[in-house]
Amino acid sequence: MGVTTEGGADFLVVANRLPVDLERLDDGTERWRPSPGGLVSALEPFLRRRNGAWVGWPGRADLDVAPFDDEGLLMHPVRLSSAEVRDYYEGFSNATLWPLYHDVIVPPVFERAWWDSYVVVNQRFADAAAAAAAPGATVWVQDYQLQLVPAMLREQRPDLRIGFFLHIPFPPVELFMQLPWRTEVVSGLLGADVIGFQLPGGAQNFLWLSRRLLGLEPSKAAVRVRSRPGSVPFGGRHVRVGAFPISVDAASFDELSRDPGTAERAREMRFEMGDPHRLLLGVDRLDYTKGIDVRLRALGELLAAGRVDPETVSMVQLATPSRERVDQYQAMRRSIEEQVGRLNGRFGRVGRPIVHYLHQSMDRDELVALYCAADVMVVTPLRDGMNLVCKEYVATRHGLDGVLVLSEFAGAAAELTGGALLVNPYDLDGVAQTLEQALTMDPIEERARMRTLHRQVMTHDVGRWAQSFLDFLDPSASTTTRAPDEAPVAAESLPATLRQAVVRLARTPRLLVVCDYDGTLAPIVADPAQATPRPESVQALRSLAALPETTAGVISGRGLSDLAALSRLPAGVHLIGSHGAEFDPGFAHTLDDEAQALRRRLEADLELLVGRTRGVFLEPKPASIAVHVRRAEPSVGESVLEAVRSGPARLRGVHVTEGKAVIELAVIETDKGEALDMLRRQSGATAALFVGDDLTDEKAFARLAGQDVGVKVGLGESLAAYSLTDTGDVAVMLEYLLAERRAWLSGEIR
Ligand code: ADP
Ligand code: G6P
Repeated sequence: MGVTTEGGADFLVVANRLPVDLERLDDGTERWRPSPGGLVSALEPFLRRRNGAWVGWPGRADLDVAPFDDEGLLMHPVRLSSAEVRDYYEGFSNATLWPLYHDVIVPPVFERAWWDSYVVVNQRFADAAAAAAAPGATVWVQDYQLQLVPAMLREQRPDLRIGFFLHIPFPPVELFMQLPWRTEVVSGLLGADVIGFQLPGGAQNFLWLSRRLLGLEPSKAAVRVRSRPGSVPFGGRHVRVGAFPISVDAASFDELSRDPGTAERAREMRFEMGDPHRLLLGVDRLDYTKGIDVRLRALGELLAAGRVDPETVSMVQLATPSRERVDQYQAMRRSIEEQVGRLNGRFGRVGRPIVHYLHQSMDRDELVALYCAADVMVVTPLRDGMNLVCKEYVATRHGLDGVLVLSEFAGAAAELTGGALLVNPYDLDGVAQTLEQALTMDPIEERARMRTLHRQVMTHDVGRWAQSFLDFLDPSASTTTRAPDEAPVAAESLPATLRQAVVRLARTPRLLVVCDYDGTLAPIVADPAQATPRPESVQALRSLAALPETTAGVISGRGLSDLAALSRLPAGVHLIGSHGAEFDPGFAHTLDDEAQALRRRLEADLELLVGRTRGVFLEPKPASIAVHVRRAEPSVGESVLEAVRSGPARLRGVHVTEGKAVIELAVIETDKGEALDMLRRQSGATAALFVGDDLTDEKAFARLAGQDVGVKVGLGESLAAYSLTDTGDVAVMLEYLLAERRAWLSGEIR
């Protein structure tokens, strides 16, 4: 499995652990298995898509492993001796920093020898990264075990772009100040160009500490938005500090949960547990921060008080073995296992324990089946940087059932407030009451809550997290600013099936490429007048239109003149406005007297109806009037839309088109499907690509057939066969199509 690393990697993750651990089995054989914890589960799928390299420890002491290639991901193992595992990993990382950063739930231990080992090992990781990185590479250092690496790496390799992300909470100033080596740690982190935290509070704490310990004044000019609080000048550079809440690979959890095999396995699991009416689930690394004891105690109290019937409720507690040689972990394991024993002894019966406790790690398919089987997910950490388990659970609830009970002290609570039942894990009565509420929740409320949660998690996945951090670290490397010539590299981020469809489409004799505007070429913004298209998409459409046997167009709901002014597209790209009512050049339909009278009436009625409602405005177009409510309070917007639907929209001869936060009333009948067909006829296309994000685009998707490709941007039901997350992905796809089409037309590929 040896690989050459000549030239080095352009993108490198440096983390204490590799994403795989070398495990020795009882029979003496060895195998690689996934490493535990949220850091690996979040970063691995992202890095695999990027073909990067990873520097980390393979999970066992005294192990020399040569660099190897694991399905396209280059691994650079770092050796730790047994003494270093004891002092650097179990000691300073997990008995000093871990408790200190987690609200001193257990007292941190300060040992000079552990610190010395931490320095030595950090230097080794920095050396390994320096050796593995190509000139000018981006290196992303992860988590509390490696806080000195950024400065050590910069010392050797000032050419690198260095990011640091802390996966765990960053403590309040007064706790951090306990650390005897506090100044060294802060200086180590300041070696990075960007330091990322889970929450704005962590970033703020760090800025205070930089001021207090090193006298660094945050530069006010750099204070931008809440999630990116600022920067500090250090060593002739500006170190930027911000919050980037991490997430999960939501689409892969969603996909797995929709697999019929998973649903079957979930049913089987419930059956094996005696088909409880309600199934509670806890999934954690066995760590004292996770509050496993809290939920067991709360359940015990409900059972003892007869508020929960042991015949109808079961709980599964899955606990991954973790840091088993650290004292506090051993003590906690004993106490939890005793608690489980007591509960089962008192409330279980033969063949029907109340708590199914598994001290093991589970493979992904089984874990997702368990998520699918559970009615109530209980996540009660006393402190957690983010907590990915709760997001994974939500990502598997495509049926919108299931209740999430979530600690206020998990980072995830900041994002999931709307749908989760939040608890204070220090308030036992409160946790018990909330568990009871979760177990008896009305299905309508359950659905409404889960809908909010699901939307949040599906639209804020780990890809978006990583991209936002990396865009901040290196805007020139982000997919949103990639040069068209680099399209094949960026295209790795597209779904494989879509890439194949694009390759086929690029080989069609006469190609038609058509995009919607808002939400497809231009990101959605609060003020529609400010919606500018992504420059890479404009460039790709422009280049496509210039190729032989290739036609490009944009069909928008906007009026044509508005579209022409905003889109910055050259004459070679056809522009069609008002959902197909306005073709460039000129207005395709002349309005007869009756239609003109109707339009005037509509305008008057709508002006009356909308009046001066805040955030609502009219957009008059030649054959229609659109009512936009995007800037209004949601409830106000909805009542205006309802009034339009039940009023002017019902007038005879009025054709209604609804989009996201907009309703359009037209006096002639047109839709994007008809417009697409018209372009197809004019260009004699043999196959077409249509990309859109809105309901109105469905009319165009409905006209696709044969080799045509339909791509929906964003979430939601669609007739399109493919989907992408956002306008950045659309740019990548258009660039990919351009590169493939160019190569095919020039005979480079067949
Ligand atoms: P932490 O990083 O502190 O362990 P997170 O909740 O952020 O906590 O991440 C835990 C990760 O480990 C999740 O991706 C979860 O799916 C995974 N995990 C937890 N317990 C198990 C288990 N018993 N088997 C397999 N994976 C597990
Ligand atoms: C958390 C930490 C990670 C760590 C993981 C597993 O997620 O933030 O840095 O890798 O726990 O812990 P372990 O000690 O087994 O690596």
